[in-house]
Amino acid sequence: MDLIVARNRTDLIKARRDGSVALVPTMGALHEGHRSLIRAARARADQVVVSVFVNPLQFGPSEDFSRYPRTFDADLDVCRAEGVEVVFAPAVQDMYPPDRQVSVSSGEMGRIVEGASRPGHFDGMLTVVLKLFNLVRPDLAVFGQKDAQQLAMIRRMVADLDVPVEIVGVPTVREPDGLALSSRNRYLSAAERQVALALSRALRAGAAERVPSKVRAAARAVLEEAAPELELDYLALVDPATFCEVPELYSGEAVLAVAARTGTTRLIDNVVIALSPA
Ligand code: PAJ
Repeated sequence: MDLIVARNRTDLIKARRDGSVALVPTMGALHEGHRSLIRAARARADQVVVSVFVNPLQFGPSEDFSRYPRTFDADLDVCRAEGVEVVFAPAVQDMYPPDRQVSVSSGEMGRIVEGASRPGHFDGMLTVVLKLFNLVRPDLAVFGQKDAQQLAMIRRMVADLDVPVEIVGVPTVREPDGLALSSRNRYLSAAERQVALALSRALRAGAAERVPSKVRAAARAVLEEAAPELELDYLALVDPATFCEVPELYSGEAVLAVAARTGTTRLIDNVVIALSPA
C-alpha cells in the first residue's frame, strides 16, 4: 500500500484504518536509530504512524532550531522502506496557532540534569508529544532510550495525566565504534567526530564499575582526557524513573548520562548500569 502523507487533522482521520495504531514521534532526519523504533512499532501494531515535526517549542533561543537538518524526501523513502502506513507532517502554524495559551509543565523533574541545561525544553517536548497523542490517538507510542530523560518524562506525563497510551522504550542504536546515532551527528567534522567518541567510551568505562563513586570517577577520567576539545556539560548517575542522583549505597538499575559539546555541536548519551553496593 502507498504511504500516506497527512498534513493535518482531517488527513489523519481519513488515513485511519481499523486495528491498532503505533506512533513513532520524530523530528525527521531519520537514521538507523529511528528505523529501529519504526520496526518496534511495526512488530506491535496494525498501522504505523511516523510523525515528522521539528518542534520549535522545545528549542531554546540560542539552540539549533533554524539549522536543524530537514530531509523530508529522504525521510519518506525510509518510511516507505520500513512499511510505514502514514507520515504525519503538520505545519508549525497549524500546531501552534498564535492564540494558544495552555501547555504541559514538566515540573521539578523537567528542571534537573538535561532540563537544567535546557530551560523549557521538556515543557515544549511534552506539549508536542501530548498534542501528537491527541491527534493520532495511538494505542502505543515508541521512544528511544537514547533520550533517557525524555522517555522517563513521557512515562511520568502518561502516568500523572492518565493518558491512555502504552509507552515502549527501544535501546540506543550505535555506530560500530560506539557513537550513538543522532540527527545532530551530521554537524560533526571528522576531527569533532573523533572527539565525540569520548562520550560512549566514558559510559563504557563507567559501566565496568558497580559502585556510584567508582562509576562516576571512571567516566569522568575518560571525559577529562578529551578536554578541552570536549567541553563537558554534565555527567550524572541517576535513578531511571526520577532522574535524581543515586546515593552511594544503591542497588538496582541506574542511568549514567552525559552531555558535552564539541565545536558548536551538543551531544548526549547514556547507558543503563546495574549497581550493587560493594
Ligand atoms: P528525534 O531526536 O528525532 O528522535 C525521535 C526518537 O528517536 C526519540 O524517541 C529518540 O529517543 C529516538 N532516537 C534518536 N536517536 C536514537 C538512537 N541512536 N537509537 C535509538 N533511538 C533513537 O526526540 C525527539 O525527536 C523529539 O523530542 C520528539 C520526541 C519527536 C518530540 O518533538
